[in-house]
Amino acid sequence: MDRERPMSDLRPQPASGQAAGRDASQGRPARLEMSQLSLAIDGRRILSGLDAAIDFTRLGVLGRNGSGKSTLARVIAGLIAPDDGQITLNGKDMARDRRAAILEVGILFQNPDHQIIFPTVQEELAFGLTQQGQGKRQAQENARAILARFGKSHWAEAAVSTLSHGQKHLVCLMAVVAMQPRVIVLDEPFAGLDIPTRMQLRRALRQFPGASIHISHDPEDIADCDTCLWLDEGTLLRAGPGPEVTAAYLAAMEERGAGDDLSDLTR
Ligand SMILES: Nc1ncnc2c1ncn2[C@@H]1O[C@H](COP(=O)(O)OP(=O)(O)OP(=O)(O)O)[C@@H](O)[C@H]1O
Ligand SMILES: [Mg+2]
Repeated sequence: MDRERPMSDLRPQPASGQAAGRDASQGRPARLEMSQLSLAIDGRRILSGLDAAIDFTRLGVLGRNGSGKSTLARVIAGLIAPDDGQITLNGKDMARDRRAAILEVGILFQNPDHQIIFPTVQEELAFGLTQQGQGKRQAQENARAILARFGKSHWAEAAVSTLSHGQKHLVCLMAVVAMQPRVIVLDEPFAGLDIPTRMQLRRALRQFPGASIHISHDPEDIADCDTCLWLDEGTLLRAGPGPEVTAAYLAAMEERGAGDDLSDLTR
């Protein structure tokens, strides 16, 4: 019987005859540079004058609902170009250089329904791989391999529409990981996942051999991050070591939460 690898092992498979992979728990560093980055949608300023140059392996992005986190995630992945200023990931402009971007960065959207295109799990997983230039047969093989690594071989022919929200999220994560980008951007990856799946995913992410950018409103989710950005109303309020920024963020959020006024959610 084929033994499937545990979900906790996201390391690339060594080719046969190659030595087993190194310990990837620290990840490979990446560099994010933003210079006066701004973005407006429909005439409304969503991101405003973001300035930072950060070397990281595990970067957290915190902020309240509507602060611009998901928008920044898309900008980092090059899916939206800023309308002012500049942003590079590992020295490359992801919006301009889409060919580089497909190898450099993978993004897990907050809403899996915005990510999934194909009717079955297997097709969804193979698609990104063919986009990267793999032949059809190899892409199918690698799609099956990633399913096996997550213990989900039985999902291959499943109709994505029949999966639960959390299960769809996992399909999207497998699709991103299968492409082995240097950096993964994870927009609220724990949202909607049950406790065991969240714990397994957290362990799996620690093993990711590249760098990661983890977006959440909850500091607990990003406890593993070495560096953290705090977005507030589309501006960068603070950037620095993870524990420092998360402590300041938590104190500010608890102070806000002590009030009764929900109206400050809309801006
Ligand atoms: N396509 C769009 N069209 C118009 N406004 C948008 C669009 N996308 C985002 N916005 C606005 O930009 C602001 C930031 O949204 P964004 O989704 O980036 O926030 P967020 O920090 O990810 O919030 P959440 O924690 O709720 O996911 C919000 O006020 C939102 O209404
Ligand atoms: Mg969001």
